[in-house]
Amino acid sequence: MSFTINSHGKTNRIQNINIKHEDLNKLVFPFKKHTITSLEYKPFSRFSLAKSLDEVFENKLSKTIVEILKDRNTGTVIVEPQIDKKKFDKDFLVKLSTGFAYLVGNPNFDSMSNKYYARFTVKHEDSSDSYLRKAYTNLDLHTDGTYVKEKTDWLIMTKMEEQGVSGGESVILHLDDWEYLDELSNNPVGQQDFIWGSPKSKNVQYKVEHPVFKKDKEGKPIISYIDQFPEPKNMEQGLFLQRLSDCLEESKKKIEFPLPVGSTIFSNNYFWLHGRKPFKENNNLSRELLRIRGTFFVD
Ligand SMILES: [Fe+2]
Repeated sequence: MSFTINSHGKTNRIQNINIKHEDLNKLVFPFKKHTITSLEYKPFSRFSLAKSLDEVFENKLSKTIVEILKDRNTGTVIVEPQIDKKKFDKDFLVKLSTGFAYLVGNPNFDSMSNKYYARFTVKHEDSSDSYLRKAYTNLDLHTDGTYVKEKTDWLIMTKMEEQGVSGGESVILHLDDWEYLDELSNNPVGQQDFIWGSPKSKNVQYKVEHPVFKKDKEGKPIISYIDQFPEPKNMEQGLFLQRLSDCLEESKKKIEFPLPVGSTIFSNNYFWLHGRKPFKENNNLSRELLRIRGTFFVD
């Protein structure tokens, strides 16, 4: 086994996996077998790509990632491959992220891109209808998949490229570290059904209903929340969401770090929230992220 695994400098809850240049080199040949188009069109090719990724690591990478993601005490992996920009281009990063995803489960269809993954760029100018692409405002802490019918057990975010970037650090929070968890998760309003819609760019025509807080199999609270999409039906729900938003954003337990180009945040989506700090204004700003969200394979 040749990847290394260490606790993140700021918390034991995040495990960093480093992949060396020489191991990435071993992936070049098996990855060449698959084009981006064939990966997009033929789901089985993603499994074979993931298998070749695992084989480079004696089939231990899949087991390691699954264990960390499912463990309530951890739940987040940051994979840092030692990329050499020329050889390990964006196509390589799409394939690497695809491999990570298919080592743990099946991705959901992403309505925003009509693919199993989505790539999106934040730039200086923006005319979109959601916070996702607004460079100079905070992207508040949230979970993914709040407005879709599919289960979203985990998510992958890979930094594909950045130029003219200052600020824009990743921000994540483990639910059990959050100072206000007891107050908010035990508030009966948080267990009521909320209506969740989404703006046009998400290409989701329906609305869903679910509470903000539920309990997992062990009775521990889990969260499904994003600030922009719940449609409170009365004062009680509106005020609950405002309090929730304030308590998340003012938490001192948030972990903030710059995500290097080529690196991936891989998180359990039930007890980790994620967001992004504002970028510093720059006319040449450009940052591209890839995301994949999905469910665990059923044992
Ligand atoms: Fe998100």
